[in-house]
Amino acid sequence: MMKDMAKFVVAKFVLVLFVSTTRALSVFDVTKEGAKIGADINQALISSWNKACASTIPSKVFIPKGIFLLSPMTFEGPCKAAIEVEVQGTLKALTNSKVTKDGSWVTFQRIEHFTLSGGGTFDGQGASAWGNCGNNFCQQLPINIRFDFIINGFVHNIRSLNSKQFHVNILGCNNLTFQRFYIIAPADSHNTDGIHIGRSSGIKIIDSHIRTGDDCVSIGDGSKNVSITNVKCGPGHGISIGSLGKFEKEEPVFGITVKNCTLTNTDNGVRIKTWPASTVNSASMIHFEDINMVNVSNPILIDQVYCPWNQCNAQVPSRVKLSNISFKRIRGTSATPVAMKLVCSSGMPCQGVEVADIQLKYIGKEPAISECENVKPMISGVMNPPACRSKA
Ligand SMILES: *[C@@H]1O[C@H](CO)[C@@H](O)[C@H](O)[C@H]1NC(C)=O
Ligand SMILES: *[C@@H]1O[C@H](CO)[C@@H](O)[C@H](O)[C@H]1NC(C)=O
Ligand SMILES: *[C@@H]1O[C@H](CO)[C@@H](O)[C@H](O)[C@H]1NC(C)=O
Ligand SMILES: *[C@@H]1O[C@H](CO)[C@@H](O)[C@H](O)[C@H]1NC(C)=O
Ligand SMILES: *[C@@H]1O[C@H](CO)[C@@H](O)[C@H](O)[C@H]1NC(C)=O
Repeated sequence: MMKDMAKFVVAKFVLVLFVSTTRALSVFDVTKEGAKIGADINQALISSWNKACASTIPSKVFIPKGIFLLSPMTFEGPCKAAIEVEVQGTLKALTNSKVTKDGSWVTFQRIEHFTLSGGGTFDGQGASAWGNCGNNFCQQLPINIRFDFIINGFVHNIRSLNSKQFHVNILGCNNLTFQRFYIIAPADSHNTDGIHIGRSSGIKIIDSHIRTGDDCVSIGDGSKNVSITNVKCGPGHGISIGSLGKFEKEEPVFGITVKNCTLTNTDNGVRIKTWPASTVNSASMIHFEDINMVNVSNPILIDQVYCPWNQCNAQVPSRVKLSNISFKRIRGTSATPVAMKLVCSSGMPCQGVEVADIQLKYIGKEPAISECENVKPMISGVMNPPACRSKA
């Protein structure tokens, strides 16, 4: 009896091993659900997704090569097992500004063990919408792709093209990696931030290229453990932490590493911005290392008096505390003479700022300079421009 039991347990164990090593996968091809090239595949995609999501073994929704239209769509979890969406083709948004209830064109929501892959493109057809709100933020325009409350996700070999508003917004996610993610929109497209991260932890962006009209990556409140490695940015507004301090109940930013990135022809390089007269918040353990700047207007920038269009009382100091921040091995060219600017809050000076091995050259005739307020940086290695003397 015991022997049989043991045999049964072993057999079961072998079976489980077999199943997991062959990675059983059920595939749901949208064309089997009626998707046709050139037509709106929303209904076919919803029905493929619903079947895949209900599968108790790992599943995949498959969109083959070809150009398909897609009206606003939410891929909603939770699902019963790991799930992948493989997009080989191009999905085109409609040119109108219809959105999902979350304000996007496409949303992936509340999914665990999620993969988005395939080499395909999400084309937001944004040209019709850019500039519709002048310089103001166009809240009602769709974000190309939203990732909301994704846990353990991997997005790779995907292109986001000409979003009407942000390309990607990440909210409430934990352990989500983007690799070989390509973003393309013209330099003059308004509010087309590349990837915006908020209230999420364990976000990685690696081996990617972001060309757009606004921030390359922007890191909002509540972002923890974010790493950006081997990413190329430009054109656009560069990599930015913040803005912070504008809204009530913002959460701290903690543990951000930006490493081995190249910024080309961007308005800013690596920057931290907070509002004057702000709410209370903090940002700490932020490291920028091995960054190449090519003709960048503000390569190194801490701006705690960020107040575009006079939307605030610039006389009241920011109450966002910045600490433990390093800028190391940052090289290349600046498009303006002020290559390094560290303007901290007079009410809450920056603490633990480290600057090492900076070699930035102004593209004009004069030498590059640096400016500081309310910060006493620790300085080491080569410093060109010479690090500023603090006014504090
Ligand atoms: C993070 O997510 C990836 C992709 O789903 C997964 O392979 C990995 O095991 C996760 N890491 C942790 C610590 O759960
Ligand atoms: C951040 O990462 C560290 C090390 O990788 C890990 O120990 C910690 O739990 C993470 N914290 C969050 C909030 O993800
Ligand atoms: C740094 O990034 C470049 C591409 O921008 C890549 O070729 C190189 O391998 C990266 N270096 C490391 C150490 O990852
Ligand atoms: C350098 O940047 C400035 C300001 O953004 C721009 O006007 C100029 O065309 C750029 N130069 C090159 C060679 O790209
Ligand atoms: C900043 O670094 C110092 C020294 O390593 C450490 O004692 C302190 O806890 C850090 N503060 C924050 C907010 O991370």
